[in-house]
Amino acid sequence: MSRHYYIAGNWKMHKTRAESAELAQALVNELKDGKHKYLIAPSFTNIETVSAIIEGTNIRLGAQNCAPEEQGAHTGEVSVLQLKDLGVQTIILGHSERRHVYKEDNALINKKVKLALSKGFEVILCIGELLEEREAGRVEEVCETQTVKGLEGVSIEDLANVIIAYEPVWAIGTGKTATPQDAEAVHAFVRKVITRLYGEEAGKKIIIQYGGSVKPDNAAQLMAMENIDGALVGGASLKTDTFVPIAKFS
Ligand code: PGA
Repeated sequence: MSRHYYIAGNWKMHKTRAESAELAQALVNELKDGKHKYLIAPSFTNIETVSAIIEGTNIRLGAQNCAPEEQGAHTGEVSVLQLKDLGVQTIILGHSERRHVYKEDNALINKKVKLALSKGFEVILCIGELLEEREAGRVEEVCETQTVKGLEGVSIEDLANVIIAYEPVWAIGTGKTATPQDAEAVHAFVRKVITRLYGEEAGKKIIIQYGGSVKPDNAAQLMAMENIDGALVGGASLKTDTFVPIAKFS
């Protein structure tokens, strides 16, 4: 298998600069012999601090969002140019909190995806269904729409810089995890969607992370699934005690 495991920590709106620095430094030490690909995504205000600590290490620097425009009159937004300036390499887009709390739709997310890719960023595009959508039997329809619309106009060359994160919304921050089998079924389906859009090779290569209450005690079982290539970790990424065992799962 040509795919590698990719473990990402989404720190969401947590930590001061000092706390971010402390965690980043601890992760640099703990993960330096780690075998997988790693990323941490601090709050915008802590990116510069964390950037200085992880530069040149095996941990990539992520941001949790970006504006859909390069610059201009966009009060409260942060530009891809500003993120690039701080050394950000990867941008998480379409996170369920952006979709459902801040009402970002597929068209807006697609605009951000294309802008970020055009500036040379790697993008983690998050998709996933709400509980009521799962209960109504609409998991595949929702995940397919979010994938297809999120990637509209993205070339096959740019797809090489896209990671998909399947995060069932009902599993995020709730302590409920999809069973490895349930998650695997959706990952396999999403890979088929990518294969249909971009061809066999692209479908085989694309990294699909799972997110939603990933913990040290469920990480290995999830990663053992054929189509699960890593994790996007929220709550458990805020402490070395919980993130390091996930990052070093075996
Ligand atoms: P969680 O969050 O691990 O706290 O469920 C995952 C995410 O939102 O990316």
